[in-house]
Amino acid sequence: MKRRIDEALAEALERIHSETFVRAILTGSRKSVKPTYKRVDLRPVEIKSQVMIQAVAHDGKKDYTENYPIGADEIRALLASGFANVIVDSTSESYQIQVTKKDEAITGVSKTSLERVLEHDRQKERLLPEFHPIFSALEMSDGAGRIKPTKRDKYIQIDQLLRLLEPTLSSLEKGSTIKVVDLASGSAALTLAVHAYLTREFDVKTLGVERNPDLVKKANAAARLANLSGIEFEESSIKESKLDKAEVVLALHACDTATDDAIDFVLRTHPAAALIVPCCHQTRPQEVVREARKFPFFGQDGIVDERILDLTTDAQRADRLREAGYFVDIVEFVGDEHTARNLLIRARGK
Ligand SMILES: C[S@@+](CC[C@H](N)C(=O)[O-])C[C@H]1O[C@@H](n2cnc3c(N)ncnc32)[C@H](O)[C@@H]1O
Repeated sequence: MKRRIDEALAEALERIHSETFVRAILTGSRKSVKPTYKRVDLRPVEIKSQVMIQAVAHDGKKDYTENYPIGADEIRALLASGFANVIVDSTSESYQIQVTKKDEAITGVSKTSLERVLEHDRQKERLLPEFHPIFSALEMSDGAGRIKPTKRDKYIQIDQLLRLLEPTLSSLEKGSTIKVVDLASGSAALTLAVHAYLTREFDVKTLGVERNPDLVKKANAAARLANLSGIEFEESSIKESKLDKAEVVLALHACDTATDDAIDFVLRTHPAAALIVPCCHQTRPQEVVREARKFPFFGQDGIVDERILDLTTDAQRADRLREAGYFVDIVEFVGDEHTARNLLIRARGK
């Protein structure tokens, strides 16, 4: 529906101040007025028993967070500051305004089903924001820069990976050039995320190694679409990859013995850090099977035997890295409600 801008914004404001308000996203720029910020996210928060509106404004470099009382002039001013797109989500409706080049407001309402949560720290601060261009390039987010419900688990997994990676980087000098290699990079969501995250502090060159040519093509296209530089994907098996050196090695859910190929790569190239998530254990080292069979309780129950073999295989993998001089810990990567293959072997050079 065509409306006057002031009328459309007044309705948006009314929805923001209502008790069903969940979140609002302000993006884009009108032709006639340019907003100060690239994007503003609004949401209700409860602070000292009072509902406030939290505004997180992004100028492309930094986030600025302020909490305003309901009805504050600042919220009205942010809405009127020149954004071309306004989305106001309530518990059952999404109200959208799009301002045309002729300064007309086109408004629409669609159905949603969202929960209003007021805890101040409800949303853990994620290391890469939902609206980062990699997520739209990977088709994980919608046009307004919100992670799609079906991609939320992947988004949380990415955040967990970045948090697990961070402590392994202490020996690398900030601002230096570092090479990152992701062995068996698959659909490349984790590769793109690690590259995007590390470019904040390093000059990063990333190579994804993947044997499936379709995935390689898609990954290179996604990197271009996200406007990332210094990252490419090559079609190769881990063993045949020509890469000779990297500071950071990733091998996440690399199938079967591809995890061992990745560990061989680490032992050959001595990176400062390696993050390895074993996947399906179709083939297990003979010595592991031999040793496990010595347990008096082995052979009683199929599932238990499988788990003993998987765990001892991974413990042996971690040990290979320890013997080569790495500090190694094995941590949970994602909750086991998502997958039973949820261990991450983390190695940091001494
Ligand atoms: C389960 S996916 C994981 C993808 C990605 N690392 C992730 O965690 O989202 C496993 C990928 O490993 C690739 N792969 C398996 N063995 C490989 C090998 N030896 N060399 C290169 N790629 C391999 C497969 O083609 C597949 O795309």
